[in-house]
Amino acid sequence: MNGIISASILSADFLNLTNEIRLCESAGVDWIHIDVMDGHFVPNLTMGPFIVEACKKITSLPLDCHLMVEKPEKFVEVFAKAGASIITIHPEGNPNSHRTLEVIKSLGCKAGIALNPGTPAGAISSLIPFADLILVMTVNPGFAGQKFIPQMADKVNEVLRLCELAGQSPVIEVDGGINPETILCAQNSGANAFVAATSIFRNPDGILAGVDSLRKLIH
Ligand code: DX5
Ligand code: ZN
Repeated sequence: MNGIISASILSADFLNLTNEIRLCESAGVDWIHIDVMDGHFVPNLTMGPFIVEACKKITSLPLDCHLMVEKPEKFVEVFAKAGASIITIHPEGNPNSHRTLEVIKSLGCKAGIALNPGTPAGAISSLIPFADLILVMTVNPGFAGQKFIPQMADKVNEVLRLCELAGQSPVIEVDGGINPETILCAQNSGANAFVAATSIFRNPDGILAGVDSLRKLIH
């Protein structure tokens, strides 16, 4: 499988969202990543299902929705109805992750489970058979523009090994601080999907150059 680039619109120009998403499409981005934050699970508030609905009208690219919210089970249905293709939840503070993954799939979406930097890989080992995607956070969730935590590469590798042991091959996605300097470290550790906000939408040479600078490094 070729590396997947998921462009996080958290750093997009919202006055120009249609155009920015079109540029992502022309640049060959694979997925559009939508960061949903509730001000409780993370210290920031961002987008709700109406943004997913708006993106759905703009693009046919898969919408990769990352729910950084408490009680994600309360929201998965509304995101599925809004047009999410992938819904990723965090297990931290959510004792019912298995049930929520099953609900996500029953709604016709791919189900992902995410790990904060402080959560060990083993915390989700029992969930691997039920997840289509494992997201390893390479920063603490909450904001774009943070620095990649290099030690998370070891966790990516651990997740990969746990998946192999379980005979599963979910997508292994990394999120946070992904740029031309860090993407190879993540790929070499076993990641095959790469979320990027700043290095795509804030590239001084534009979105096309931002995507190219990542794409040319991965396979
Ligand atoms: C962080 C979000 C990320 C963020 C990545 O909480 O989950 O998806 O947008 O931003 P960059 O690529 O700037 O680190
Ligand atoms: Zn994210």
